[in-house]
Amino acid sequence: MKNETINYPEVTNERYRLKYHITAPAGWMNDPNGFCFFKGYYHIFYQHHPNSTQWGPMHWGHSRSKDLVNWESLPIALIPGDQEDQDGCFSGSAIVKDERLYLIYTGHNLKDKNDPDSYWQNQNLAVSDDGITFEKFAGNPVISIPPEDNDADFRDPKIWFENGKYNIVIGSKNKDGLGRVLMYNSDDLEHWDYLGPIATAKSVDSEGFVWECPDLFEIDGQDVLVMSPQGIKADKLKYRNFFQTGYLTGKFDEETHSLHHGEFTELDYGHDFYATQSMVTPDGRRIIFAWMDMWESPMPEQEDGWAGALTFPRELNMKNGKLLMTPVEEIKKLREKVLLDITKPKDTTTIFEAPTKSFEYLGNFDGQENVSVKIKNSDNKLLIEVSYQAVTGKVTLQKYNDDLLRETNVSVANKLDIHLLMDNSSAELFMNNGEACFSERVYDEKELIVETSSDSTNYDIKIYELGGTM
Ligand code: FRU
Repeated sequence: MKNETINYPEVTNERYRLKYHITAPAGWMNDPNGFCFFKGYYHIFYQHHPNSTQWGPMHWGHSRSKDLVNWESLPIALIPGDQEDQDGCFSGSAIVKDERLYLIYTGHNLKDKNDPDSYWQNQNLAVSDDGITFEKFAGNPVISIPPEDNDADFRDPKIWFENGKYNIVIGSKNKDGLGRVLMYNSDDLEHWDYLGPIATAKSVDSEGFVWECPDLFEIDGQDVLVMSPQGIKADKLKYRNFFQTGYLTGKFDEETHSLHHGEFTELDYGHDFYATQSMVTPDGRRIIFAWMDMWESPMPEQEDGWAGALTFPRELNMKNGKLLMTPVEEIKKLREKVLLDITKPKDTTTIFEAPTKSFEYLGNFDGQENVSVKIKNSDNKLLIEVSYQAVTGKVTLQKYNDDLLRETNVSVANKLDIHLLMDNSSAELFMNNGEACFSERVYDEKELIVETSSDSTNYDIKIYELGGTM
């Protein structure tokens, strides 16, 4: 691998640093990559520009954990600049073969160094025996060009092993300008056969022009393609972010390699959620991470020498055709002390002045009553508010720096649960066991206040302080 002296920006202030979420020690980060389990550790990599707080030539940053919640930062795993990845090691995934850890990633190469819009992309391998030091494969690229009907966008291979073959899906744009996902398979990781597009956007406005970061898997008897399409037009309260992340569900046809699917559905309705990647744990749970930011989001931590975070790892499940996300159960290991424990309070409103900015809120409500949870600062400034309308099941999120609401629905039942993870500059909301999720970066240097209101006093709240190693 090319040698490079990394010049990290100086971290001048830790006011926004998250305590139990993965962030880069310094410099920029975006998508999670290479999520896997190898020799007793979970590994997660991420798109990383260590030399600046802005996106730039992509490296792979790296962390590992024995339990999904206490993470250790490791040296940079991939550095760009070799023949096949001259201008970036873009997103990709990981697989274990013969007790070695293989990364498959996209090489990003500019045709003209002064024109970021003219490039070619290919797929490459790197391998490690210890899960720390990686060597690029001498035979790179393993896929040198996209199929003939493809545009330049050809990236983000997601790998899995099934029916005796290695399989990958790759994000793409076809020559008609439509987003799609391509599939390949291989016996040995080095030689790949093209199997065709598994799904293609109906139109740019409705389904986008590049489908980034695809992830195809079966869950609870359904085939699901999670991906991040660029270019879907906002439609009332849907698709409000610059780009979205969501999924198609249906049936994957093994003969034709195509996914017969329904409508695109957003996975998280917050402002800061993009480019997911999932894996199955040794005990059979499918866990997903996302980049907890969005391209157009303000990132004031850039002034402090770093930028970006990953979401808390979430377990995926399917219920009534909907993908649900809930924080992994290992969160219990981070609980340090109970800060609040109330059952059926006297007042309909409960105000909690948080002594820490890293905490977990578990609220159980009567689903037949309206509920709202507000996060304010100690000057009473509203930072975010989530509200639930009992009659319709409508859930709305309002954020301080955005006039646009975010909205979705949960099914109305006798019970409503709200699970909220706060971590210094982030808020992740899970309602009704993950039926509605909102991921947000929230920047405020003052102390936080949580104000819960319901139409009745028929609710309970438990709040834990959370620790962490980050
Ligand atoms: C998604 C993405 C990927 C690409 C990477 C580059 O956020 O655009 O498609 O591989 O980021 O950093």
